[in-house]
Amino acid sequence: MKHNALIIYFFLVFLWPIEATPSHTFNSIFSFGDSYTDTGNLNVLAKKLAFPVYTDKLPYGETFFHHPSNRCSDGRLIVDFLAEEFGLPFLQPYLSQNGSFRQGANFAVAGATALEPSFFKQHNITTLAMPLNTSLDFQLQWFQNLKPSLCQTTKGCRDYFGRSLFIVGEIGGNDYINMYVSRLSMTQLKSYASTIVQTIARTIKKLLDQGARTVVVPGNIPMGCIPLLLTIFKSQEQNSSYDHNTGCIKRFNVLSRYHNSLLIEAIQEFRVKYPHAKIIYANYYKPYLNLVRFPERYGFTSKPLVVCCGKGGEYNCNLTELCGMPHVSTCQNPSTRVNWDGIHLTEAAYRYISASWLKGPYADPPILGAHTK
Ligand SMILES: *[C@@H]1O[C@H](CO)[C@@H](O)[C@H](O)[C@H]1NC(C)=O
Ligand SMILES: *[C@@H]1O[C@H](CO)[C@@H](O)[C@H](O)[C@H]1NC(C)=O
Ligand SMILES: *[C@@H]1O[C@H](CO)[C@@H](O)[C@H](O)[C@H]1NC(C)=O
Ligand SMILES: *[C@@H]1O[C@H](CO)[C@@H](O)[C@H](O)[C@H]1NC(C)=O
Repeated sequence: MKHNALIIYFFLVFLWPIEATPSHTFNSIFSFGDSYTDTGNLNVLAKKLAFPVYTDKLPYGETFFHHPSNRCSDGRLIVDFLAEEFGLPFLQPYLSQNGSFRQGANFAVAGATALEPSFFKQHNITTLAMPLNTSLDFQLQWFQNLKPSLCQTTKGCRDYFGRSLFIVGEIGGNDYINMYVSRLSMTQLKSYASTIVQTIARTIKKLLDQGARTVVVPGNIPMGCIPLLLTIFKSQEQNSSYDHNTGCIKRFNVLSRYHNSLLIEAIQEFRVKYPHAKIIYANYYKPYLNLVRFPERYGFTSKPLVVCCGKGGEYNCNLTELCGMPHVSTCQNPSTRVNWDGIHLTEAAYRYISASWLKGPYADPPILGAHTK
């Protein structure tokens, strides 16, 4: 009798929760962000508005897709690895309006900022990308436009989105870069960080209010380790500008860490206000920095800041001769390289980072095991 009770107790405590919480069952993924996540939205705009892009040309896509896949990499992005993990199709870009979005949609657009175009106009900040309407507010509006095709009632939507995986970010990097290139000071950039993070937080709140229960919020990458920025600022940097462990520009990394600290604060507030939801901080900074500091430990060649697809100079990177342009060559084996084109990472680097978000240690909590309570 006692023995049986013990067995039942064991069954309830140790086995029952496993049965009751089917693992890894998201019905869809909805994703917001910039070129680290875009799976083709910018290319749709480029066709419509007739401006050139390079991600529709080889060598973009060569490693995995074997054809240009409108992604800023040689292969899969983090969002693709997450879709694979959960048995979902790769995310269709929302602007392609290609078929059903019931299993997810990607609203991310290369070049997108968190802040709206009017902010940049008011502050006399020129944006590198054309003044497209792709900022986070527009991406959220696209999500709202799509919603009636996914669910009809408030409760129906809450049920549906409760089983979706939402990814909000990385976003904000372009805001800082646009500001810096427009000659705003680091102090000014820091003063806008809270505005940027508030914009991201507003998006997260709108999703939570409509029933989202699992939201992944990637932080900023270490901007001081972007080879294109290292190339642009090389002539004006002093030796003391660089972190000697990494070769990255210190002040940009300080800014990235500041942005991330504000983002973590915002996430902590949401966790209190929405205790039923899992809001995951995905650390982009640390795993990227690991690859830059200890590339060989993770199967990469030394000199992680030297770009795979580019031309010339210390970082094999040149603003006027970028990957995808004629006469720009690609490295032999992108799978051993961290940086793909001067800004974006290789599939191999994205694979490492996505694994660290799925299983830990660089997501809080790890995405696997972050299922609806
Ligand atoms: C539309 O979706 C199909 C199936 O997912 C895909 O094979 C095709 O390439 C997509 N077309 C465009 C223009 O994105
Ligand atoms: C932006 O530029 C205009 C015209 O040069 C000027 O009047 C305005 O004060 C500037 N605004 C800011 C925020 O610098
Ligand atoms: C962006 O939106 C504004 C107002 O909402 C509009 O005036 C402008 O034409 C749009 N720009 C593009 C490129 O679609
Ligand atoms: C970039 O390429 C141009 C020629 O297209 C060359 O004049 C310039 O010196 C190069 N810059 C660097 C940093 O290598």
